[in-house]
Amino acid sequence: MGSPRTKVEVKGFEARHYDRLMDIITLGQYPRYLEKVIAAMHIQPGDAILDLGSGTGRNLCLMERYAGPTGRLVGLDIGEEMMAQARERCQHLPHVTLMFQRIEEPLPFENEFDHVTISFVLHGFEDEDKEKIIANAYKALKPGGTFWILDYNEFDLSKKPFFVKFLFTKVECPLAAEFVALDLKAMLQRHGFGEFQEHLYARKYIRLLGARKI
Ligand SMILES: C[S@@+](CC[C@H](N)C(=O)[O-])C[C@H]1O[C@@H](n2cnc3c(N)ncnc32)[C@H](O)[C@@H]1O
Repeated sequence: MGSPRTKVEVKGFEARHYDRLMDIITLGQYPRYLEKVIAAMHIQPGDAILDLGSGTGRNLCLMERYAGPTGRLVGLDIGEEMMAQARERCQHLPHVTLMFQRIEEPLPFENEFDHVTISFVLHGFEDEDKEKIIANAYKALKPGGTFWILDYNEFDLSKKPFFVKFLFTKVECPLAAEFVALDLKAMLQRHGFGEFQEHLYARKYIRLLGARKI
């Protein structure tokens, strides 16, 4: 069971129309912005990629363009409506596998992925589960592999404009307001990650954080 404070277990209308809603909320910017994010990961042909909370498979398909048919892509999720869209989207790609799997539970992977990715999922977990997810990513990565976290950046919410405070306190889950105050790099370092790289988007509200398994 996920935390009662989470909103990342997307279901119903939101799940069925997730991609369209993301495009509308970002005034049509989301596809272009995702292309930039995926390009920043420097995925190479033949790379193995594990996507935690893979949703509708949109990111998996974009990453597959770089990894190509010799790559291996695995998406983990627990949302049936989200996974149904991912299955349809990836049906022509035999090297893409989708698994029904909670990402905070022990995973059957060890030293086998070049990249582990997690996009707009990590903020929706209690800290003890974030630790479990980070440990899972570390174990699944090859030495030197990179954990890519696309999510809200770190910032002082009390210094942000009213509408941002409103979004984070009334619309998003309470866990997201805690996430922006979290020293995520320190948490990653405790698990053995380092050599961080950051790419900021949407007026620095969104961050792609890359952390290498050292
Ligand atoms: C906000 S959506 C993001 C989807 C996708 N990563 C993206 O960026 O488009 C969050 C996703 O995480 C999945 N999810 C939530 N809790 C999960 C868990 N404990 N284990 C696996 N997936 C989970 C949801 O089903 C949903 O597909």
